[in-house]
Amino acid sequence: MIIDILFKNGSVVTDSAIFKADVAVTGEKISQIGLNIKPDPATEVVDCKGKLILPGAIDAHTHLAMPFGGTISTDDYETGTRSAAAGGTTTVFDFILQDFGETFPDAIRRRDAIAAPQAVVDYSFHIAVKDVAGGLLYTMEDAVKMGVPSFKVFMVYDFGVTDGVFYEVLDHSKSIGALIAVHAENNELVNYLSNKYASEKKTSAWYHYLSRPEFVEGEADVRAIQWAKSTGAALYIVHLANKQGVDAVTAARDEGYPIFAETCPQYLNFTSDVYKRPDGINFVCSPPIKGKASQQALWDGLTRGDIQTVATDHCPFLKSEKKWGAKDFRKIPNGCAGIENMYPYMLSEAGKGRISFSKAVGVCATNVAKIFGLAHKKGAIAAGLDADIVVYDPKAKATISNKQMHGATDHTIWEGVTVKGYPEQTWSRGRLVVKNGKFTGAKGAGKFVACKPIKLTTPDIGNL
Ligand code: URP
Ligand code: ZN
Ligand code: ZN
Repeated sequence: MIIDILFKNGSVVTDSAIFKADVAVTGEKISQIGLNIKPDPATEVVDCKGKLILPGAIDAHTHLAMPFGGTISTDDYETGTRSAAAGGTTTVFDFILQDFGETFPDAIRRRDAIAAPQAVVDYSFHIAVKDVAGGLLYTMEDAVKMGVPSFKVFMVYDFGVTDGVFYEVLDHSKSIGALIAVHAENNELVNYLSNKYASEKKTSAWYHYLSRPEFVEGEADVRAIQWAKSTGAALYIVHLANKQGVDAVTAARDEGYPIFAETCPQYLNFTSDVYKRPDGINFVCSPPIKGKASQQALWDGLTRGDIQTVATDHCPFLKSEKKWGAKDFRKIPNGCAGIENMYPYMLSEAGKGRISFSKAVGVCATNVAKIFGLAHKKGAIAAGLDADIVVYDPKAKATISNKQMHGATDHTIWEGVTVKGYPEQTWSRGRLVVKNGKFTGAKGAGKFVACKPIKLTTPDIGNL
């Protein structure tokens, strides 16, 4: 087999090991992994001495060009995926918001028509469910057949579903190879507390945190898990940020239930103190960033494996839009940027010894692929998989600054944070898309990736 590209002299990182090996790429796929692989005369050899060879990350949670909070999130499919690539992320899952009355296949077609000509790396979708009335529920299986087997329900926001619809969707998911994800917060309590603080003229970003305190999320996690257990369905909790929720997920998993959880770098790196900062409005996201005990519980949950994935919840807004709520936290569009920072941050934490490099690869790539039905194509350095490869320099040092980032947003909550190590090259299906911070990819080169139906029957994703 002809070798087009050969990554030589590096150390390959998988979710369970690090070993010296060369990685050969033929066309768009990894064709061989081994020691002393000989290049062909026309092979492009990439010297990886002193570098780690990693699978590109898969960001399981992004909101690109999403209408939300009275505006549209700043990054579209081009700028969002470009920014992803610069941070070593080679596949992006975006949330489609179903329209009322819309079938799930129509929702996919509507968004794919926008994504396909723009994306610079590969992408897939989850669908946020708004409406299952009048037979729409049964169009979920058509979406599964189109390669979109994951759905999200919101327990909050004005388009959140009722408890009954959430339960119905969970119940239905089991028989059609679908996985239900949930944004868990108690909507009634959020509404009550936010209006109470506003009426008392307590309107700074700090009251965003106080109106969504730890138990508002934890209580909803407990309820969501209870319903998943009673239907026998698997459940994936997105952007888990609180200790009570971590404890509930852990207990359910210990009992053998297929409950999965994702957290985000912003919850791992910052605490609720950010809402007291002068730029606190820029950190407003939901669920809000919690206190120190929750942050520690998230790290512990990741280390134990009770939290399986890290994703960004990338949902950026301009500074001017965030400022709409400078005098009333209820008017701040909820969401922060992070698509370019996730892999560098998690790998940096590995470099500093908090987790292993294998753990960082597992939670940012391999586990995501396994959970969402993508492991046949992505998420690992293995022969036969797409050549989505990051050459990572563990000795590099970087201070994150929006000026050097590749998205469309005009600020980042990560400004000034230093990271140890940095992705030097990002390859997407055998094409170099970023080298030393310079984007070399092409708009429209990213392709939709169809996921397989999902059947998670135990908490152990190793035994799929
Ligand atoms: O604040 C957030 N997270 N905005 C994006 C929408 C969501 O809840 O995931
Ligand atoms: Zn959410
Ligand atoms: Zn989100």
